[in-house]
Amino acid sequence: MASVNKLSRSIALLLVALLAGCGALPGLPGSASGTLSAQEAAGPDGAGSGFLWGVSTAGYQYEGGDVSNQWYPFVQAGRTADSYGIAADGWNRYPSDMQLARGLGCNAWRTSIEWSRIEPVEGVIDQAALAHYHQEIDTMVADGLTPVITLMHFSYPAWLDQEGGWQGPHAVDAYAKFVTLVAREFGGQVKTYLTINEPTTFILSSYLGGVFAPGYRNPLAAHAVMNNLVAAHRRAYAILHQVVPGCRVSANEYVADYHTPISIPGIDLEDWFLNQVAQPDPANPSAGPAMDFLALDYYCRVNVSVPLHLPADWAWPVDPRGFTDALEHYWQKYHLPILVAENGMATDDGAPRADGWTRSAYIVAHVKAMQQAQATGVPVLGYFVWSITDNYEWGSYAPRFGLYRVECKQGDYTRYPTDSVDAYRSIIAAGGVTPAIEASYPPPASGSLLPRLWHTLQTLGR
Ligand code: BGC
Repeated sequence: MASVNKLSRSIALLLVALLAGCGALPGLPGSASGTLSAQEAAGPDGAGSGFLWGVSTAGYQYEGGDVSNQWYPFVQAGRTADSYGIAADGWNRYPSDMQLARGLGCNAWRTSIEWSRIEPVEGVIDQAALAHYHQEIDTMVADGLTPVITLMHFSYPAWLDQEGGWQGPHAVDAYAKFVTLVAREFGGQVKTYLTINEPTTFILSSYLGGVFAPGYRNPLAAHAVMNNLVAAHRRAYAILHQVVPGCRVSANEYVADYHTPISIPGIDLEDWFLNQVAQPDPANPSAGPAMDFLALDYYCRVNVSVPLHLPADWAWPVDPRGFTDALEHYWQKYHLPILVAENGMATDDGAPRADGWTRSAYIVAHVKAMQQAQATGVPVLGYFVWSITDNYEWGSYAPRFGLYRVECKQGDYTRYPTDSVDAYRSIIAAGGVTPAIEASYPPPASGSLLPRLWHTLQTLGR
Protein backbone atom coordinates (compact mmCIF):
# COMPACT_ATOMS: atom_id res chain seq x y z
CA MET A 1 0.00 0.00 0.00
CA ALA A 2 2.55 2.50 1.16
CA SER A 3 4.65 1.75 -1.89
CA VAL A 4 1.91 2.94 -4.18
CA ASN A 5 1.80 6.37 -2.67
CA LYS A 6 5.53 6.68 -2.31
CA LEU A 7 6.48 5.64 -5.78
CA SER A 8 3.88 7.60 -7.59
CA ARG A 9 5.27 10.54 -5.68
CA SER A 10 7.00 12.16 -8.61
CA ILE A 11 3.81 12.72 -10.56
CA ALA A 12 1.73 13.44 -7.52
CA LEU A 13 4.20 15.98 -6.18
CA LEU A 14 3.88 17.85 -9.40
CA LEU A 15 0.11 17.90 -8.96
CA VAL A 16 0.41 18.96 -5.37
CA ALA A 17 2.78 21.78 -6.12
CA LEU A 18 0.70 23.04 -8.99
CA LEU A 19 -2.46 22.83 -6.92
CA ALA A 20 -1.09 24.85 -4.12
CA GLY A 21 0.95 27.26 -6.13
CA CYS A 22 2.98 27.29 -2.98
CA GLY A 23 6.00 25.47 -4.27
CA ALA A 24 7.28 28.64 -5.80
CA LEU A 25 8.93 29.59 -2.57
CA PRO A 26 12.67 29.41 -2.85
CA GLY A 27 14.79 27.40 -0.44
CA LEU A 28 15.95 29.16 2.67
CA PRO A 29 18.98 31.31 2.30
CA GLY A 30 21.74 31.13 4.89
CA SER A 31 20.87 30.38 8.47
CA ALA A 32 17.51 31.04 10.07
CA SER A 33 17.85 33.25 13.09
CA GLY A 34 16.18 32.24 16.32
CA THR A 35 16.45 28.51 15.65
CA LEU A 36 17.91 26.14 18.20
CA SER A 37 21.39 24.76 18.02
CA ALA A 38 21.71 20.98 18.20
CA GLN A 39 22.74 21.20 21.82
CA GLU A 40 19.96 23.57 22.84
CA ALA A 41 17.34 21.60 21.00
CA ALA A 42 18.39 18.35 22.63
CA GLY A 43 18.23 19.91 26.06
CA PRO A 44 14.82 19.95 27.69
CA ASP A 45 13.95 16.28 27.72
CA GLY A 46 15.90 15.21 30.77
CA ALA A 47 16.61 11.61 29.86
CA GLY A 48 17.27 12.64 26.29
CA SER A 49 19.63 15.50 26.82
CA GLY A 50 22.12 13.94 24.46
CA PHE A 51 21.84 12.04 21.21
CA LEU A 52 18.54 10.16 21.02
CA TRP A 53 18.72 6.53 19.97
CA GLY A 54 15.16 5.49 19.50
CA VAL A 55 12.47 3.37 17.98
CA SER A 56 9.44 4.76 16.20
CA THR A 57 5.92 3.52 15.97
CA ALA A 58 2.45 4.96 15.51
CA GLY A 59 -0.68 4.41 17.56
CA TYR A 60 -2.95 3.03 14.87
CA GLN A 61 -0.33 0.75 13.35
CA TYR A 62 0.86 -0.65 16.65
CA GLU A 63 -1.88 -0.51 19.27
CA GLY A 64 -4.76 -2.33 17.58
CA GLY A 65 -8.47 -2.21 18.32
CA ASP A 66 -9.17 1.42 17.40
CA VAL A 67 -12.64 1.59 15.86
CA SER A 68 -13.07 5.34 16.13
CA ASN A 69 -10.81 6.68 13.43
CA GLN A 70 -11.26 7.21 9.72
CA TRP A 71 -9.51 3.92 8.93
CA TYR A 72 -12.29 1.89 10.52
CA PRO A 73 -14.95 2.51 7.84
CA PHE A 74 -12.27 2.26 5.14
CA VAL A 75 -11.14 -1.20 6.30
CA GLN A 76 -14.74 -2.31 6.89
CA ALA A 77 -15.57 -1.33 3.31
CA GLY A 78 -12.94 -3.84 2.11
CA ARG A 79 -10.59 -1.22 0.73
CA THR A 80 -7.46 -2.78 2.28
CA ALA A 81 -5.64 -6.04 1.62
CA ASP A 82 -5.85 -7.10 5.28
CA SER A 83 -8.34 -6.24 7.94
CA TYR A 84 -7.00 -4.50 11.03
CA GLY A 85 -7.73 -6.48 14.20
CA ILE A 86 -5.43 -5.74 17.11
CA ALA A 87 -2.34 -4.88 15.03
CA ALA A 88 0.74 -5.69 17.17
CA ASP A 89 -1.35 -5.47 20.36
CA GLY A 90 0.79 -2.56 21.45
CA TRP A 91 -2.14 -1.20 23.48
CA ASN A 92 -1.52 -4.01 25.97
CA ARG A 93 2.09 -4.90 25.32
CA TYR A 94 3.79 -1.52 25.38
CA PRO A 95 5.38 -2.08 28.85
CA SER A 96 7.29 -5.16 27.70
CA ASP A 97 8.10 -3.55 24.35
CA MET A 98 9.58 -0.58 26.16
CA GLN A 99 11.70 -3.03 28.09
CA LEU A 100 12.87 -4.46 24.77
CA ALA A 101 13.79 -0.96 23.66
CA ARG A 102 15.72 -0.45 26.86
CA GLY A 103 17.43 -3.77 26.24
CA LEU A 104 18.62 -2.39 22.92
CA GLY A 105 20.07 0.57 24.79
CA CYS A 106 17.50 3.04 23.43
CA ASN A 107 16.89 6.25 25.31
CA ALA A 108 13.88 7.40 23.27
CA TRP A 109 10.52 6.13 22.04
CA ARG A 110 8.37 7.73 19.41
CA THR A 111 4.68 7.03 19.10
CA SER A 112 1.47 8.94 18.54
CA ILE A 113 -1.29 9.84 20.94
CA GLU A 114 -4.36 8.90 18.97
CA TRP A 115 -6.84 11.73 18.67
CA SER A 116 -9.64 9.28 17.84
CA ARG A 117 -9.14 7.37 21.08
CA ILE A 118 -9.03 10.51 23.21
CA GLU A 119 -12.01 12.12 21.47
CA PRO A 120 -14.04 9.30 19.85
CA VAL A 121 -17.10 11.54 19.71
CA GLU A 122 -16.62 15.22 19.05
CA GLY A 123 -16.30 17.14 22.28
CA VAL A 124 -16.41 13.98 24.43
CA ILE A 125 -13.13 13.04 26.07
CA ASP A 126 -12.63 9.37 26.80
CA GLN A 127 -11.17 9.47 30.29
CA ALA A 128 -10.07 5.83 30.15
CA ALA A 129 -8.07 6.47 26.97
CA LEU A 130 -6.53 9.54 28.54
CA ALA A 131 -5.56 7.52 31.60
CA HIS A 132 -4.09 4.84 29.32
CA TYR A 133 -1.81 7.35 27.60
CA HIS A 134 -0.81 8.80 30.95
CA GLN A 135 0.25 5.34 32.03
CA GLU A 136 2.07 4.76 28.77
CA ILE A 137 4.02 8.01 29.07
CA ASP A 138 4.73 7.39 32.75
CA THR A 139 6.15 3.99 31.80
CA MET A 140 8.25 5.50 29.04
CA VAL A 141 9.73 8.11 31.33
CA ALA A 142 10.28 5.64 34.18
CA ASP A 143 12.12 3.40 31.70
CA GLY A 144 14.41 6.27 30.73
CA LEU A 145 12.87 6.65 27.27
CA THR A 146 12.44 10.23 26.12
CA PRO A 147 8.94 10.53 24.64
CA VAL A 148 8.69 11.90 21.14
CA ILE A 149 4.99 12.30 20.48
CA THR A 150 3.25 12.56 17.13
CA LEU A 151 -0.10 14.33 17.25
CA MET A 152 -1.50 12.97 14.01
CA HIS A 153 -0.02 9.96 12.27
CA PHE A 154 -2.26 9.37 9.22
CA SER A 155 -5.28 8.80 11.48
CA TYR A 156 -7.91 11.06 12.97
CA PRO A 157 -11.42 10.67 14.40
CA ALA A 158 -14.02 9.36 11.97
CA TRP A 159 -16.41 12.11 13.04
CA LEU A 160 -14.16 14.67 11.39
CA ASP A 161 -14.95 13.14 8.00
CA GLN A 162 -18.64 13.53 8.69
CA GLU A 163 -17.98 17.22 9.22
CA GLY A 164 -16.01 17.90 6.08
CA GLY A 165 -12.77 16.06 6.90
CA TRP A 166 -9.34 17.65 6.70
CA GLN A 167 -10.46 19.57 3.66
CA GLY A 168 -13.29 21.25 5.59
CA PRO A 169 -13.32 24.54 7.50
CA HIS A 170 -13.68 22.76 10.83
CA ALA A 171 -10.50 20.67 10.87
CA VAL A 172 -7.94 23.18 12.08
CA ASP A 173 -10.03 24.29 15.07
CA ALA A 174 -10.90 20.73 16.00
CA TYR A 175 -7.25 19.66 15.82
CA ALA A 176 -6.15 22.72 17.80
CA LYS A 177 -8.51 21.71 20.63
CA PHE A 178 -6.98 18.25 20.71
CA VAL A 179 -3.45 19.67 20.72
CA THR A 180 -4.35 21.99 23.60
CA LEU A 181 -5.65 19.05 25.59
CA VAL A 182 -2.52 16.97 24.94
CA ALA A 183 -0.26 19.88 25.82
CA ARG A 184 -2.07 20.45 29.12
CA GLU A 185 -2.25 16.78 30.03
CA PHE A 186 1.19 15.62 28.97
CA GLY A 187 3.31 18.75 28.72
CA GLY A 188 4.93 18.10 32.08
CA GLN A 189 6.63 15.01 30.68
CA VAL A 190 6.56 15.38 26.93
CA LYS A 191 8.77 18.09 25.50
CA THR A 192 9.27 16.88 21.94
CA TYR A 193 6.31 16.95 19.54
CA LEU A 194 5.70 16.13 15.90
CA THR A 195 2.47 17.81 14.89
CA ILE A 196 1.69 15.93 11.68
CA ASN A 197 3.33 12.80 10.32
CA GLU A 198 4.49 13.22 6.73
CA PRO A 199 2.04 15.85 5.48
CA THR A 200 3.00 15.13 1.87
CA THR A 201 2.46 11.37 2.11
CA PHE A 202 -0.83 11.96 3.91
CA ILE A 203 -2.17 14.17 1.14
CA LEU A 204 -0.87 11.97 -1.68
CA SER A 205 -2.23 8.78 -0.15
CA SER A 206 -5.45 9.89 1.51
CA TYR A 207 -6.67 12.66 -0.78
CA LEU A 208 -5.03 12.14 -4.19
CA GLY A 209 -4.10 8.48 -4.51
CA GLY A 210 -7.07 7.08 -2.60
CA VAL A 211 -4.96 4.29 -1.04
CA PHE A 212 -5.15 5.52 2.56
CA ALA A 213 -8.34 6.33 4.42
CA PRO A 214 -10.55 8.22 3.73
CA GLY A 215 -9.58 7.16 0.20
CA TYR A 216 -10.28 10.27 -1.84
CA ARG A 217 -8.98 10.98 -5.30
CA ASN A 218 -9.88 14.60 -5.29
CA PRO A 219 -7.39 17.30 -6.26
CA LEU A 220 -9.61 20.08 -4.95
CA ALA A 221 -9.90 18.41 -1.57
CA ALA A 222 -6.14 17.85 -1.59
CA HIS A 223 -5.58 21.52 -2.20
CA ALA A 224 -7.74 22.47 0.77
CA VAL A 225 -6.00 19.87 2.96
CA MET A 226 -2.61 21.33 2.08
CA ASN A 227 -3.63 24.75 3.31
CA ASN A 228 -5.27 23.30 6.40
CA LEU A 229 -2.24 21.23 7.35
CA VAL A 230 0.00 24.27 7.19
CA ALA A 231 -2.48 26.24 9.31
CA ALA A 232 -2.89 23.32 11.72
CA HIS A 233 0.84 22.96 12.16
CA ARG A 234 1.29 26.67 12.82
CA ARG A 235 -1.57 26.65 15.35
CA ALA A 236 -0.16 23.58 17.10
CA TYR A 237 3.29 25.12 17.20
CA ALA A 238 1.94 28.24 18.89
CA ILE A 239 -0.22 26.27 21.36
CA LEU A 240 2.56 23.92 22.35
CA HIS A 241 5.01 26.74 22.97
CA GLN A 242 2.42 28.60 25.00
CA VAL A 243 1.42 25.64 27.16
CA VAL A 244 4.67 23.66 27.37
CA PRO A 245 7.64 25.87 28.20
CA GLY A 246 10.88 24.62 26.73
CA CYS A 247 9.25 22.23 24.28
CA ARG A 248 10.55 21.62 20.79
CA VAL A 249 8.19 21.14 17.89
CA SER A 250 8.44 19.88 14.34
CA ALA A 251 6.48 17.85 11.79
CA ASN A 252 8.27 14.93 10.22
CA GLU A 253 8.48 14.89 6.45
CA TYR A 254 9.27 11.97 4.17
CA VAL A 255 12.46 12.64 2.27
CA ALA A 256 14.10 10.68 -0.45
CA ASP A 257 16.59 11.58 -2.99
CA TYR A 258 15.81 15.24 -3.30
CA HIS A 259 16.51 15.43 -7.02
CA THR A 260 12.98 15.33 -8.34
CA PRO A 261 13.07 14.00 -11.88
CA ILE A 262 10.32 16.36 -12.92
CA SER A 263 11.76 19.74 -12.24
CA ILE A 264 10.14 23.04 -13.01
CA PRO A 265 12.30 26.12 -12.63
CA GLY A 266 11.39 28.06 -9.50
CA ILE A 267 9.06 25.41 -8.13
CA ASP A 268 10.14 23.38 -5.14
CA LEU A 269 8.12 20.20 -5.55
CA GLU A 270 9.40 18.30 -2.56
CA ASP A 271 9.26 20.94 0.12
CA TRP A 272 5.95 22.75 -0.26
CA PHE A 273 5.22 22.10 3.43
CA LEU A 274 8.62 22.80 4.92
CA ASN A 275 8.91 25.99 2.92
CA GLN A 276 5.80 27.31 4.59
CA VAL A 277 6.55 26.32 8.16
CA ALA A 278 10.34 26.22 8.47
CA GLN A 279 10.71 29.83 7.50
CA PRO A 280 8.76 33.00 8.36
CA ASP A 281 5.08 32.82 7.48
CA PRO A 282 4.86 34.28 3.95
CA ALA A 283 1.48 35.78 4.88
CA ASN A 284 2.80 37.21 8.13
CA PRO A 285 6.61 37.45 8.18
CA SER A 286 6.66 38.62 11.79
CA ALA A 287 5.32 35.15 12.74
CA GLY A 288 8.74 33.58 12.15
CA PRO A 289 9.50 29.91 11.47
CA ALA A 290 7.22 27.38 13.17
CA MET A 291 9.80 24.64 13.54
CA ASP A 292 12.48 24.15 16.16
CA PHE A 293 14.15 21.31 14.32
CA LEU A 294 13.60 19.29 11.17
CA ALA A 295 12.28 15.76 11.55
CA LEU A 296 13.02 13.61 8.52
CA ASP A 297 11.99 10.09 7.53
CA TYR A 298 14.34 8.39 5.11
CA TYR A 299 13.88 4.91 3.65
CA CYS A 300 15.18 4.73 0.12
CA ARG A 301 15.69 6.40 -3.19
CA VAL A 302 12.17 6.66 -4.59
CA ASN A 303 12.23 9.27 -7.27
CA VAL A 304 12.37 6.98 -10.22
CA SER A 305 12.07 8.88 -13.45
CA VAL A 306 9.28 6.77 -14.87
CA PRO A 307 6.91 6.08 -11.99
CA LEU A 308 5.05 3.34 -13.80
CA HIS A 309 6.81 0.49 -12.09
CA LEU A 310 5.73 0.51 -8.46
CA PRO A 311 7.89 -1.79 -6.37
CA ALA A 312 6.45 -3.25 -3.19
CA ASP A 313 7.82 -1.97 0.12
CA TRP A 314 10.35 -4.82 0.24
CA ALA A 315 11.78 -3.78 -3.12
CA TRP A 316 12.32 -0.12 -2.33
CA PRO A 317 15.77 0.70 -3.67
CA VAL A 318 18.20 0.84 -0.75
CA ASP A 319 20.58 3.76 -1.02
CA PRO A 320 22.51 4.78 2.12
CA ARG A 321 24.44 7.40 0.20
CA GLY A 322 21.13 9.11 -0.59
CA PHE A 323 20.61 9.43 3.18
CA THR A 324 23.89 11.31 3.62
CA ASP A 325 22.94 13.54 0.70
CA ALA A 326 19.47 14.21 2.08
CA LEU A 327 20.78 15.14 5.53
CA GLU A 328 23.39 17.48 4.08
CA HIS A 329 20.88 18.97 1.67
CA TYR A 330 18.24 19.68 4.32
CA TRP A 331 20.76 21.15 6.74
CA GLN A 332 22.10 23.46 4.06
CA LYS A 333 18.62 24.42 3.01
CA TYR A 334 16.97 25.14 6.37
CA HIS A 335 19.78 25.37 8.92
CA LEU A 336 17.78 23.55 11.55
CA PRO A 337 19.12 20.60 13.53
CA ILE A 338 17.73 17.29 12.29
CA LEU A 339 16.01 14.42 14.02
CA VAL A 340 15.87 11.22 11.97
CA ALA A 341 12.34 10.28 12.97
CA GLU A 342 12.14 7.12 10.81
CA ASN A 343 14.58 4.88 9.00
CA GLY A 344 13.95 1.24 8.25
CA MET A 345 13.69 -1.57 5.75
CA ALA A 346 10.84 -3.87 4.79
CA THR A 347 10.77 -7.55 3.99
CA ASP A 348 7.94 -9.48 2.41
CA ASP A 349 6.49 -11.26 5.43
CA GLY A 350 10.03 -11.84 6.69
CA ALA A 351 11.34 -13.51 3.52
CA PRO A 352 14.91 -12.70 2.45
CA ARG A 353 15.00 -9.73 0.07
CA ALA A 354 15.84 -10.24 -3.56
CA ASP A 355 18.54 -7.56 -3.38
CA GLY A 356 20.28 -9.34 -0.50
CA TRP A 357 19.88 -6.55 2.06
CA THR A 358 19.29 -7.68 5.62
CA ARG A 359 17.81 -5.33 8.19
CA SER A 360 21.00 -5.41 10.24
CA ALA A 361 23.17 -4.43 7.25
CA TYR A 362 20.63 -1.76 6.31
CA ILE A 363 20.69 -0.14 9.75
CA VAL A 364 24.47 -0.28 9.94
CA ALA A 365 24.84 1.25 6.48
CA HIS A 366 22.37 4.03 7.25
CA VAL A 367 23.80 4.95 10.64
CA LYS A 368 27.18 5.08 8.96
CA ALA A 369 25.69 7.30 6.25
CA MET A 370 24.29 9.55 8.97
CA GLN A 371 27.71 9.73 10.60
CA GLN A 372 29.16 10.82 7.28
CA ALA A 373 26.72 13.72 7.22
CA GLN A 374 27.52 14.56 10.84
CA ALA A 375 31.20 14.62 9.97
CA THR A 376 30.51 17.40 7.49
CA GLY A 377 28.84 19.44 10.24
CA VAL A 378 25.18 18.39 10.01
CA PRO A 379 23.75 18.55 13.56
CA VAL A 380 21.71 15.40 14.15
CA LEU A 381 19.65 15.19 17.34
CA GLY A 382 18.73 11.53 17.16
CA TYR A 383 18.08 8.46 15.08
CA PHE A 384 14.89 6.36 15.28
CA VAL A 385 14.43 2.97 13.64
CA TRP A 386 11.05 2.26 12.11
CA SER A 387 9.88 0.15 13.90
CA ILE A 388 10.15 -1.66 17.22
CA THR A 389 7.82 -4.44 15.99
CA ASP A 390 6.09 -5.48 12.82
CA ASN A 391 2.76 -3.69 12.65
CA TYR A 392 -0.20 -2.77 10.43
CA GLU A 393 1.40 -1.25 7.38
CA TRP A 394 -1.57 0.88 6.32
CA GLY A 395 -3.76 -1.82 4.85
CA SER A 396 -1.50 -4.85 4.93
CA TYR A 397 0.50 -6.98 7.33
CA ALA A 398 2.85 -8.21 4.61
CA PRO A 399 5.51 -5.48 4.75
CA ARG A 400 7.60 -6.16 7.85
CA PHE A 401 9.70 -3.38 9.32
CA GLY A 402 10.10 -4.64 12.89
CA LEU A 403 13.28 -5.04 14.87
CA TYR A 404 11.08 -7.69 16.45
CA ARG A 405 8.93 -9.95 14.27
CA VAL A 406 5.30 -10.36 15.24
CA GLU A 407 2.89 -12.70 13.45
CA CYS A 408 -0.02 -10.28 13.75
CA LYS A 409 -2.13 -11.98 11.10
CA GLN A 410 -1.73 -15.37 12.73
CA GLY A 411 -2.63 -13.93 16.12
CA ASP A 412 0.81 -14.76 17.56
CA TYR A 413 1.91 -11.63 19.37
CA THR A 414 5.20 -13.01 20.65
CA ARG A 415 8.12 -10.70 19.90
CA TYR A 416 10.77 -12.63 17.96
CA PRO A 417 14.10 -10.81 17.54
CA THR A 418 15.25 -10.31 13.96
CA ASP A 419 18.90 -10.11 12.87
CA SER A 420 18.72 -6.35 13.38
CA VAL A 421 18.39 -6.52 17.16
CA ASP A 422 22.04 -7.36 17.82
CA ALA A 423 23.21 -4.88 15.22
CA TYR A 424 21.21 -1.97 16.64
CA ARG A 425 22.24 -2.88 20.18
CA SER A 426 25.94 -2.89 19.16
CA ILE A 427 25.58 0.45 17.40
CA ILE A 428 23.97 2.10 20.41
CA ALA A 429 26.51 0.59 22.81
CA ALA A 430 29.36 1.92 20.68
CA GLY A 431 27.66 5.30 20.14
CA GLY A 432 27.67 4.70 16.38
CA VAL A 433 28.96 2.38 13.69
CA THR A 434 32.56 1.32 14.20
CA PRO A 435 34.74 -0.45 11.60
CA ALA A 436 34.23 -3.69 13.52
CA ILE A 437 30.44 -3.34 13.42
CA GLU A 438 30.57 -2.51 9.76
CA ALA A 439 32.66 -5.58 9.07
CA SER A 440 30.18 -7.76 10.96
CA TYR A 441 27.18 -6.57 8.94
CA PRO A 442 28.40 -5.85 5.41
CA PRO A 443 26.04 -4.72 2.64
CA PRO A 444 25.24 -7.31 -0.03
CA ALA A 445 27.85 -7.47 -2.76
CA SER A 446 25.45 -6.02 -5.31
CA GLY A 447 23.98 -3.57 -2.81
CA SER A 448 25.98 -0.56 -3.79
CA LEU A 449 26.19 -0.88 -7.57
CA LEU A 450 22.85 0.61 -8.59
CA PRO A 451 22.93 3.46 -6.08
CA ARG A 452 26.44 4.31 -7.24
CA LEU A 453 25.31 4.41 -10.85
CA TRP A 454 22.34 6.54 -9.84
CA HIS A 455 24.53 9.05 -8.04
CA THR A 456 26.97 9.22 -10.90
CA LEU A 457 24.11 10.03 -13.27
CA GLN A 458 22.80 12.67 -10.89
CA THR A 459 26.18 14.25 -10.46
CA LEU A 460 26.43 14.51 -14.22
CA GLY A 461 23.01 16.14 -14.34
CA ARG A 462 23.80 18.85 -11.77
C1 BGC B 1 5.16 6.21 7.78
C2 BGC B 1 4.90 4.97 8.57
C3 BGC B 1 5.06 3.76 7.68
C4 BGC B 1 6.46 3.72 7.15
C5 BGC B 1 6.77 2.53 6.25
C6 BGC B 1 6.37 6.11 6.89
O1 BGC B 1 6.16 6.87 5.76
O2 BGC B 1 5.25 7.33 8.63
O3 BGC B 1 3.63 5.06 9.13
O4 BGC B 1 4.75 2.58 8.33
O5 BGC B 1 6.66 4.88 6.35
O6 BGC B 1 5.99 2.57 5.10
